[in-house]
Amino acid sequence: MPIIEAKNLVKIYQETKKGTKQNVVLQNVSFAIDEKEFVIITGPSGSGKTTLLYLLSKLEEPTTGDVFFENKNLKDFTKQEERAFRQDLTGFVFQSYELIPTLTVFDNVALPLIIKGAKVNPDHISNVLKLVGMEPFAKSYPDQLSGGEKQRVAIARSIVHGPKVVFADEPTGNLDKQKAEEIMELFKRINVENGTTIILVTHNLAHLVYGTRVIELSNARIIKDEVLHG
Ligand SMILES: Nc1ncnc2c1ncn2[C@@H]1O[C@H](COP(=O)(O)OP(=O)(O)OP(=O)(O)O)[C@@H](O)[C@H]1O
Ligand SMILES: [Mg+2]
Repeated sequence: MPIIEAKNLVKIYQETKKGTKQNVVLQNVSFAIDEKEFVIITGPSGSGKTTLLYLLSKLEEPTTGDVFFENKNLKDFTKQEERAFRQDLTGFVFQSYELIPTLTVFDNVALPLIIKGAKVNPDHISNVLKLVGMEPFAKSYPDQLSGGEKQRVAIARSIVHGPKVVFADEPTGNLDKQKAEEIMELFKRINVENGTTIILVTHNLAHLVYGTRVIELSNARIIKDEVLHG
């Protein structure tokens, strides 16, 4: 059973206020992703990568077509199912980290648990921080960290609740080559050691070595969908 399936996804934006011109951002996009895959979505700027990630993670709705999570249509989610999808089953990593500046590293990572009303076990937070190599920075604030360090904290936050799937939109886009590779290694570890399904957008073709599959978009369509043999 696939964990996530996209069926004939179409996303159209109206380009003018009057809606006279249409911008077709995704055109009939279909694929199925199995548990434990590490899917890399690539393609030129404007090809629809971020839009696709937002549709898969229910941050946006498709114009037509469907996304299924464990065979359940995202459109048919009850409020409860939607909350579980967001708070238990998935995590999201943004290019620009999106950490809360007034919270410490520890509290940033604990936040998803606090939001959903779960008990925060400090040992668990420490272990997640250890996994991403940020335990010594637990009491630091985001503006005291480098870009790579901030992204490690954002990754810790995305996995603290033990999600089945982590979505990441160009998580290495703001980092230099070496830091970017370290972050990709970290995603690989989370994929292999925790068995987490990863769906990650990158421009960088050198990062394909970390994935198990590549989906390439061009002009709103899939032009390649291949298994990778790292
Ligand atoms: N909210 C929006 N309203 C209107 N058009 C949008 C919106 N979001 C994205 N678009 C358009 O959709 C197209 C695809 O955008 P998207 O952000 O998905 O591309 P991308 O592949 O992620 O590009 P990049 O590599 O630059 O991040 C672009 O033409 C963009 O202008
Ligand atoms: Mg994008």
